[in-house]
Amino acid sequence: MTTLVSRKPQVDRLSVAAILPAAGQGERLGSNLPKPLIPLGSLPLVVVTLKRLKKAYDFKSLFLCVEEKLVGEFEVLLREHGLSEVNIVVGGKTRAESVKNAFLKVRDEVDWVLIHDVARPFVREDSVEELIRGAKHSGASLLAEKATATVKEVNEKTRNVQKTIDRNRIFLAQTPQVFKTSLLNKAYERLGDGYETFTDEASMVEALPGEVRIVEGPSSNIKITTPSDLILAEAMVGSKKPTMRIGSGWDIHPLVSGRPLILGGVLIPHTKGLSGHSDADVVLHAVTDAVLGGMGEGDIGEWFSDTDEKNRGIESSVMLKKVMKKFQARGFRLINLDATIFAEEPKLKPYKEMIQKSLSEILGASLDQVNLKAKTQEGFGAVGEKKAISCQVTCLMERVS
Ligand code: CTP
Ligand code: MG
Repeated sequence: MTTLVSRKPQVDRLSVAAILPAAGQGERLGSNLPKPLIPLGSLPLVVVTLKRLKKAYDFKSLFLCVEEKLVGEFEVLLREHGLSEVNIVVGGKTRAESVKNAFLKVRDEVDWVLIHDVARPFVREDSVEELIRGAKHSGASLLAEKATATVKEVNEKTRNVQKTIDRNRIFLAQTPQVFKTSLLNKAYERLGDGYETFTDEASMVEALPGEVRIVEGPSSNIKITTPSDLILAEAMVGSKKPTMRIGSGWDIHPLVSGRPLILGGVLIPHTKGLSGHSDADVVLHAVTDAVLGGMGEGDIGEWFSDTDEKNRGIESSVMLKKVMKKFQARGFRLINLDATIFAEEPKLKPYKEMIQKSLSEILGASLDQVNLKAKTQEGFGAVGEKKAISCQVTCLMERVS
């Protein structure tokens, strides 16, 4: 007779519920997608982490904390990836609050809880098993990485080194963290609202004081926090995602009397200027659209509505600088940008260098990354009839950090 034996290590079949906080804003990553939904290889981050964790242990139940407005989206996603058994809990303002919300739902059902950040997709099976075994002895355990750098304690004000700490005693806390339910419950009861100030649940148990055991974890258990973490994570899953991107932009504004002519942030002496809701800098508008296009961030009108009063008369350089901030936060770097201005008048040759310099300053790029061309339209169309000026831009970018 054949007996089927589960391949998963069950550590004497402790009844464990998993809580996965995923309700953060992902601010430091600066992505336009919520952090748990960003793709890692072919799957969204949350799916990668959930599948890894499920493979590591037969949890009695799984609870995923998500932002209230995303509940519907997560329900669909979990269903699509065969993860319908995962319970969704509405998260809180902080990670601590999100975890507590889920803990209150699960504390009467299981003797043990495992808490794991969705932002750590590389959790290993053997770590989970060791953590549960460790917690069985002490009541609480956490995965932590041994410090490899030399650690200095400094005076916060002067930044002077006060001492060098023996790094053999320094471990950097990670998740998963495992707790006996009654012990964590005691910590919540004892701390009252004070629980909010703790940055992980292990330190709440430490404060009781309770015994917390460290399980030395691999450095591969990274937390995706910044764009450079994401690039490392993509390399770890062997993702073939291209890092080069291209963007294009085009704009046209009417040439009228009584307005200043501003091109690429430079005031050009002329009898007429461009009209528009903002300063009507047709060059910066086309550049902004090209950058947004390459980033996959829509267009200038979505970012700065021309019906919004606060954008009336706004300097286009302010808008482009705001976009460039996001560009940098998302880990992009400009490779080159090529702009062509179409104007019948005035002659732009004397100003091309100034415009090129202004553009590179606004973009935070060097002069050799920015090329500027000026053309007439040989009398054709609105530009040819001196009724308008247009601009066309292409830019190439890469994601580096
Ligand atoms: N988290 C949560 N509820 C919050 C804040 C964070 O559930 N109110 C979760 C995050 O989704 C993440 C984990 O806690 O899985 C660790 O947080 P962190 O890495 O800081 O992610 P974010 O808070 O999303 O990122 P940031 O701090 O850059 O905004
Ligand atoms: Mg956070």
